[in-house]
Amino acid sequence: MKPPLRLGVLGSGKGSNFQAIMAQILNGRLNAEVRLVISDVQDAGILSYARDFQIPSLYVQPGHFRRKLEPEVEEDVVRLFREADVDLVVLAGFMRIVKEPLLKAFEHRIINIHPSLLPKFPGLEAWKQALEAGEKIAGCTVHYVNSGIDTGSILGQRSVPVLPTDTPEQLHHRIQEAEHELLPDVIRKLGAAPEI
Ligand code: GRF
Repeated sequence: MKPPLRLGVLGSGKGSNFQAIMAQILNGRLNAEVRLVISDVQDAGILSYARDFQIPSLYVQPGHFRRKLEPEVEEDVVRLFREADVDLVVLAGFMRIVKEPLLKAFEHRIINIHPSLLPKFPGLEAWKQALEAGEKIAGCTVHYVNSGIDTGSILGQRSVPVLPTDTPEQLHHRIQEAEHELLPDVIRKLGAAPEI
């Protein structure tokens, strides 16, 4: 069996996808190891989950841009992931656009989970966009990260129904349940691939 895939996780939010990855690692269904969790939000749930799981974690001060990290900070993230010997970077609810430093250092080794069936509804609050567009089917996508917003090549998708009575929160919740299966599943497949 291959050695565990070494993951670096970046997240800004509550961390339910990180939790789903950890659950599958701990129950032996995912041959991976989270080496480091980094967040740009000091009190993000993902950091407290990391502490609960006793995974090294840290907060990086994002700098003065709203939609990306300060370039020097992104360089620090690269260094930290390199020092942690990370094979694959997982964006699990990371709310900033990844730029050159990370894209170059981890070319074809950064994946993101997005709450829509891309290429439909890239960007923010995709579940709301789906609801407003009257979609009958919504879902989530895991894709490689490139310099665009939610435009990298698609690695996997899961669909969920949109019910006529759905509120945005209910639809988002159903999509998140699908995310929690899809993301570990894609990581498992990447880990089994010969080139990573
Ligand atoms: C997910 O809905 C994901 O699709 C989006 O951000 C959310 C993160 O949720 N990119 P969590 O922090 O993993 O709970």
